[in-house]
Amino acid sequence: MLEGPKNEPGAGIAPTYLGLDIGTSAVKAVLIAADQSILASETAPMEVSRPQPGWSEQDPDSWITATRQAVAKVKAARPEALSRLLGIGLSGHMHGATLIGSDHRPLRPCILWNDGRSAQECVELEAKADFRGIAGNIVMAGFTAPKLAWVAKHEPKIFEAIHKVLLPKDYVRLWLTGEFASEMSDASGTAWLDVAKRDWSVDLVEATGLTMDHMPRLVEGSENSGHLRQELRDEWGLNGTIAVAGGGGDNAASACGLGTVVPGSAFVSLGTSGVVFVSNDRFSPNTEGAVHAFCHAIPDTWHQMGVILSAMDSLTWLSLTTGTPAPDLTAALEGPLRGPARGLFLPYLSGERTPHNDASARGAFIGLDHSTDKKVLTQMVLEGIAFAFCDSLRVLSDAGSRIDSALVAGGGARSKALLEILATALNIELHLPEAGDFGGGFGAARLGLMAATGADPAQVCSQPRIVETISPDARLTNAYQDKYQSYRALYPALKPLLNA
Ligand code: XUL
Repeated sequence: MLEGPKNEPGAGIAPTYLGLDIGTSAVKAVLIAADQSILASETAPMEVSRPQPGWSEQDPDSWITATRQAVAKVKAARPEALSRLLGIGLSGHMHGATLIGSDHRPLRPCILWNDGRSAQECVELEAKADFRGIAGNIVMAGFTAPKLAWVAKHEPKIFEAIHKVLLPKDYVRLWLTGEFASEMSDASGTAWLDVAKRDWSVDLVEATGLTMDHMPRLVEGSENSGHLRQELRDEWGLNGTIAVAGGGGDNAASACGLGTVVPGSAFVSLGTSGVVFVSNDRFSPNTEGAVHAFCHAIPDTWHQMGVILSAMDSLTWLSLTTGTPAPDLTAALEGPLRGPARGLFLPYLSGERTPHNDASARGAFIGLDHSTDKKVLTQMVLEGIAFAFCDSLRVLSDAGSRIDSALVAGGGARSKALLEILATALNIELHLPEAGDFGGGFGAARLGLMAATGADPAQVCSQPRIVETISPDARLTNAYQDKYQSYRALYPALKPLLNA
C-alpha cells in the first residue's frame, strides 16, 4: 500500500488544488495543498423538490449559488492558500438530466438520479437499440437517456429547444469555464456511452431522438477540460491559468479519494444510498444482475458497482417513524453480535437498482411477533441493508469481481453494530480508514491536481491509513448465510404484493 495522504492542515501550501463536489443536499469545496493535506473544507446546502410521488428535481442554478457560497467560505478561511490555486476538479451526483437551451440556460429543473418517472421509457428505449450490448448496462429509470425520452413524450416543446444535454457537475463546469464537456465516469451513467470504447454511441444517442450535436465533448477525468473564466478568477482573487479537470461522477471521484484505483480494490459506501464499488482493468458488464459497469475517472480503468437506493436512508426512515435519533437506535445494539434477528426487512423504500432493477418495488417487514420491539426492528433494518449488500457482492462476483476485503466510507461506518453485521453477512474484511475526508470532494481535488500537473494517477491516488479491520464473526457466518437465503427468497415471493 502507498503511503496515505496526510489529510489534515499541514505545511507546504503552494500551489493548491480545489475539489468541488456537487452533492444532492450540499456542495462541498475542499482545498488541498501539493502534499494533499486539507487546507479548507466548506459546504453550502441545497434543496431537492419532489413535485409528484417518485419524482425528484433540483434547480441547476442552485448548484452555482451553492458553489459560489462554498468557495467564498474557503476564500474567507484561507485567502492566501486559495490565491495559489492551480487546478480545480469536479465531482457530482450522477445521471441527472440537465437540459440547456441555445442561450446556455437550463430549460427546466434537472431530473435527478433518484427520480423514478421514466420506467416505461426504459422499456421503450431498449426495444429501439442495443443499449445493453453497447452501453453494457440495463437502461434504468435513474439513468439520463430514459429521462430524455420522458421529456420528448410529455414536454415536446422543451425537448425541441434542447441545445445540449449536460450532467449536473458539467453544468457547473459550463459556468466555471464556458465549455460544454463531460468525462467518462459520469457519461457512463447516461446510457449513451459505448463504455468499452470510452466514446458516445451515435446509435444510442439517435435512438433517444437526439444527435451528436446535443452531446458535450468528452475528456478523461484526470485531463484538463478547460480553464477558469476571467470573471471568476477576479471574484476569487486568482492570477494565471487555472485548469479545470474532467473530474468524476461522485462514486468514481470518491474512489479517487479513497485510493480505489488499483484493479480489484473495493470500497463499500454506507450513505443515503449504498454502493459496492470495485475497480477493474477492463470493461466487465453483468446486465443480468443489474450491475453498473462504468468507466473510472482515470484513463484505461473501469469499475463495477452494485447500487442500493435506500441504505442508511432505511435507518433514517425507522428513526423518523419511531421518533428516535438514528445513533440511539444503533447504540442499543452495541455489544457482542448474537446472530440474526428472527424476522426480515426488505429495504426497497424507493425501489431498487441492484440486483432487481425495479423502480416500483417497496419495502417490507416480515416475521414480527410480540417480542419484536424497537431494538429488534433496528437489527432487522441493519440486517436488511447488509443482505442488500450481499446481493450486490453476489452479482459482482458473477461479473468476475471476487471481493475479499473493502474500505468502508459514509456515515453508516460510525455504527459498530452495522459494521459487524455487514462483515459477517458479507464474509469479508472491512477496513476503516483513519479519521479524515476521503470523499468525492477530496477525490475531485486530486483530479484537479492531476490535470494541472500531469501527475500519475497511481501515485496521486494512494489509500488512507487503515485504523481498524472488522473481520467476519466466524461463529455466525453460517447463520447469516442461511438467513441471507431466506432474504433472497423474499423479493420474488412478495413482488406481486410489493409493487406500488
Ligand atoms: C450511482 C447513483 C448515486 C448518485 C448519487 O449510480 O445513482 O450514487 O450518483 O450519489
